[in-house]
Amino acid sequence: MYKIGEYLEVSIVDFSHDGQGVGKIDDFIVFVDGALIGDIVKTEIIKLKKNYGIGKLIEIIKPSENRIMEESNYLSQIGGFSLWNYAYEAQKEYKESLVKKNIEKFTRLKGVEVNQIIGMDNCDNYRNNIQLSVKNGRIGYMKKSSNDVVEIEREYYEPKGTMNIVGVLKSSKLVKKLKMIGIRDNFLGKKMLILVTDKNVELEILDILEDLIECDVEVIYHNINTNPRYHYGKKFIKLYGEDFYDEINGYKFLISPNSFFQVNREQTAKMYNYAVSQLDIKSEDRIVDGYCVIGTISMMVSKEAKSVFGIELSESAIADAKTNAFLNGIDNTEFILGDIGDAIKDIRVYDKVIIDPPRSGCDSKVLDSLLEVKPKNIVYVSCNPTTLARDLDVLLGNYELIDVQSFDMFPMTPHVETVVTLTIKVNN
Ligand SMILES: C[S@@+](CC[C@H](N)C(=O)[O-])C[C@H]1O[C@@H](n2cnc3c(N)ncnc32)[C@H](O)[C@@H]1O
Repeated sequence: MYKIGEYLEVSIVDFSHDGQGVGKIDDFIVFVDGALIGDIVKTEIIKLKKNYGIGKLIEIIKPSENRIMEESNYLSQIGGFSLWNYAYEAQKEYKESLVKKNIEKFTRLKGVEVNQIIGMDNCDNYRNNIQLSVKNGRIGYMKKSSNDVVEIEREYYEPKGTMNIVGVLKSSKLVKKLKMIGIRDNFLGKKMLILVTDKNVELEILDILEDLIECDVEVIYHNINTNPRYHYGKKFIKLYGEDFYDEINGYKFLISPNSFFQVNREQTAKMYNYAVSQLDIKSEDRIVDGYCVIGTISMMVSKEAKSVFGIELSESAIADAKTNAFLNGIDNTEFILGDIGDAIKDIRVYDKVIIDPPRSGCDSKVLDSLLEVKPKNIVYVSCNPTTLARDLDVLLGNYELIDVQSFDMFPMTPHVETVVTLTIKVNN
């Protein structure tokens, strides 16, 4: 019905999972990059599929009342912070309603109450981990729908001190050999720097080492990555420094270059505290921390519980989790390498479960095991409201939904983290 090259006037009513504006005309959906909920825009159809189209933003006919009228060619060109010019209060409201909408759409529950989302007072430099692309000596983000790199202009949400490190690398001979850099920072502002090449080349860092140390770099790795689909290859070669640690809620964690660690330290502390309080741990409780990675949640629950079983598929993460228990003087945790769907049935003796699966959610084996073994409480931590709602509907067979609390872990993006509490139905 519509044609490529056609201009449409459309009201933006939603965001896509990657933060594009979603406009609707009857049953036809059009995704418009750069448009915000509440905008009325003129868009040119540049791609057409059966039920939807991709539109180029031509003109904002009437701006959303939540549009921050600020120009930034730089932020508009990079993909990662697509809601940068959408008022923060409106971002939080959007995320809260997204969680509610998904639960009501994909579960049997209607009229679900969700608590007010917990946001940040100051979103500057909220990330503790970023990757920047490098091309022809330029360091920054990939330009949307392009192979080009937009140079990082200034620090917005990146770790504090990112620009200093970028400055040192840009003035070095080494920059020509790099494909990407990774920067992680810890609670003291100390940095891990990962230099990524796509070939096995020598990286000589001696002439810039002092400058990098001045920028609080504590440890440097070389990573060789031949697969552009991933940030890092498997092999990390340490070029400088000792082990790298971070701290959350007073617990110390060894961070390997490829360890999963939540990207927003301030919000993670609030979210972990909340999730642990929802477990309502008694001193006789045996707890399972499913998808435990390096044992962050396991450590937090270990203080009040009798024992904790952390389960995780990654061998290196399990090794780090064991080290972390030792580092924190914790002796009531056991870390199991394996699939949670199997391990949960093998352990059997436990009372409460906390799970924090990847974006794809739990597979059916995990959900079946939980329904079979019937822990009293399940706290489900999720970074994807759609898979959360899908899994929730399965668990609602035996469980009641007690509480839904979201956290704004990723400001300026459409992503949201949610903690859901379930308790077993009395007749089970
Ligand atoms: C979102 S992360 C967990 C975050 C972690 N709880 C934290 O706060 O740091 C998901 C982890 O689940 C692990 N994983 C994925 N599928 C799994 C499975 N079937 N059994 C056990 N672990 C799994 C992955 O290796 C990954 O480390």
